[in-house]
Formats: sequence, C-alpha cells, structure tokens
Amino acid sequence: MPRIAVLIVAAGKGERAGTELPKQYERLAGKPMLRRTVEAFGGYPVQVVIGAGQQELAAQALAGLSVPSPVTGGVTRQESVRLGLEALAKDAPDFVLIHDAARPLVSRKVIEDVVKALEAGADGALPMVAASDTLRRAGDDGRWTLVNRENLYRAQTPQGFVYAKITKAHRAHAGTDVTDDVALAELAGLKVQMVEGEEKNIKVTRKQDFALAESLIGADVRTASGYDVHKFKDGDHIWLCGLKIPHTHGLEGHSDADVGLHAITDALLGCIGEGDIGQHFPPSDERWRGAASWKFLDHAASLVAAKGGTINHVDVTIICERPKVGPHRDAMKAKIAEILKIEESRVSVKATTTEGLGFTGRREGIAAQAMATVRL
Ligand code: CTP
Ligand code: MG
Repeated sequence: MPRIAVLIVAAGKGERAGTELPKQYERLAGKPMLRRTVEAFGGYPVQVVIGAGQQELAAQALAGLSVPSPVTGGVTRQESVRLGLEALAKDAPDFVLIHDAARPLVSRKVIEDVVKALEAGADGALPMVAASDTLRRAGDDGRWTLVNRENLYRAQTPQGFVYAKITKAHRAHAGTDVTDDVALAELAGLKVQMVEGEEKNIKVTRKQDFALAESLIGADVRTASGYDVHKFKDGDHIWLCGLKIPHTHGLEGHSDADVGLHAITDALLGCIGEGDIGQHFPPSDERWRGAASWKFLDHAASLVAAKGGTINHVDVTIICERPKVGPHRDAMKAKIAEILKIEESRVSVKATTTEGLGFTGRREGIAAQAMATVRL
C-alpha cells in the first residue's frame, strides 16, 4: 500500500471573494469552508497550510478534527505548496494530493481516481472538466474574439504526484511563476495523467460562489430518538417539558426528573453522535442534584450549534395516565422553543395513555419518547 498524504493549501487572502474573513474560514452551509474541505478527505492524513496570522481562525475551523498543526504558507500559492511539501519531508509519503481549501465539494470519486492514476504509475494526475460554454477572449481593442472551445479543459484539484518528484520540481523551480502544480511538474518533465474532474468541484472564488456551493452541498439531515422514564414519589408537583405542574405526586430523580426534556436532550445528542444525557450530566455528580433540566437541553442545543447544526424539528410524546398534558401543551411547546431558540412551529408535544396497561397504566411513573431532526 502506498503511503498517501494530502496537502490542503489555505494560505490565501480570498481577495476576490471580499468576505469578512478570508473565504476559507467563512461558513459554508453552517461550517467553515476549510473544515468541509478537510472532512472531504476523511481517512487520509491531511496537512493544512495557512497564512501568517491565521492560526486562531484555523484552530477554530479545525477544532476536534485529527489533523496536525497547520504550517505557514507563503505569499503565492506556489510558495504555500512548497512550504507544505517541505513540512511533509520528515515523514515523506509516497504520493501527495495537493488540494485547494477553496474546493470543499471535491468528491470521493475524484480523489480515488487521482490515487488510482498514481498507483498505475503516473508521476502526476490532474482532474479536468471539458469547457462546455462558448469561450471568447477580451482584446485590448474592446473586441471579443471567439476561442475554439474544442479540446479546451479546465484544471481542478486535487492534483496528485509522486511526492519525491513534485517536491524536487518545486525546489528546482521555486522562482518560476506558474498557476498550478501540474504546470510545474511539466516544467520538470513529469508524466501527468488526466482524470475526469467534476462540474460540482468548483473553486469558491467570488462571493456569489458561496450560494452556489451551498445549493450543491444540499442538506445532511440527521434524525435520532430519545427515551426516558421517571418513577412517581410523594409530592405535590412535577416538572414536565420545562413547566412546573401541580400533581398528586412528584417524580423521583437526581435532577428535577423532567422526562420530556430528558428525552429531547437524548434525541438531540443522538443526532450528533454525542452519547447520552447520563454521559454529559452523570447522576453521580453533585452539581446536577436537583438541577433544572432546561440546562441539559440548552447544553445539547449548544453542542449541535458548535457542530454547525440547525435544529429542524423536535417531537416529544409523554406517556402517562395523569396528569393530563392537553391543557399544558401550548405552554410546553413555547417553553421548549424558548430553550432551543427555535420557532414554536418546529416543536411538537403529544401525549398518550397506555389504556391502564404497564407501569404507566398503573400510574407508577411517566415515560417520554422524543425524535429530533438536525441539519448539519
Ligand atoms: N493559497 C495559498 N497561498 C497563497 C495563495 C493562495 O495557500 N499565497 C490557496 C488559497 O487559500 C486557496 C487556493 O490556494 O485555497 C486557491 O487560490 P485562490 O482561489 O486564488 O484563493 P485566494 O488566493 O485566497 O483568493 P484571491 O486570489 O481571490 O485572493
Ligand atoms: Mg489567489
């Protein structure tokens, strides 16, 4: 198995995009573009190259991903690539895939096709797409001359190379100004194989490209469930879906025993693969004795937000004979919406009895089950 490393260059200023932050750190469908690009290479070791002074932005964008500290690039893309290649030298891979941070939509297929071309013996591999629009060149005289688009192709990244060969080429031609790594490889006489690129592998360059990229990304929608039960004890009220409700009994629990909010909390944690409520708020922890459960739900919502997620919808079903949920339904919806900071129309509260059957039927306790849908 050849050892493959990925070099993602993110040291540009993004001047043409004119966004507040350099474009690679701007959010694209909820996540920093650089993070999306790194995630597209999941499973490969990735080295990121950033601009001087971008350490903090990069740390935020890459938080939680298993990538080594970014290295600092240069004034031109070419310099950034060379510095990145040098950073890989101490543990040199067989192949390196050089990719723009500004191409977050690269597919697994393009990546694998580049790798396959290298495995088949090419020195380099270049994904390209045919130019399908009619092309014209602007002249100094104000005229637009038709360019024959036949045989014209647009070059994309990742451009893959035998690491030792492209590194040597970069060192030898550091002074020559070229637009991509394949151009440099050709100067060094390397054999480059074309592979098929993809239209959707766009380079986010101008502001309007963000909207295009977002529409191409579509939605990563996750749904998960949550379930909770608490037992009745002596008392005169219970907490249910964030409301204090007078009742003939109380509910037993380490916190305020709000089964509704606990079930929704677990559903949200499930959507982002973050374990369950007991893991975040262990019953053994004195801090949570008698705690208000809205804090648990608020925490789950902030974990969703930290992952760039948006809560589309939560739905909870309360299972008990008493108290009657109906009279409280609207207030419960409003409370849950308030805690999650979403519209009430995205919250659903339902209730059912179990016709006298089982522990809920015997009025021994209350159960709740919830579903949540999150867009990441
Ligand atoms: N890049 C880099 N180092 C530079 C210049 C560019 O690592 N000195 C990276 C960019 O961050 C980007 C990729 O090379 O991921 C392609 O460059 P481009 O799309 O031109 O990005 P910018 O140079 O940042 O944008 P602009 O040219 O509009 O300023
Ligand atoms: Mg540039």
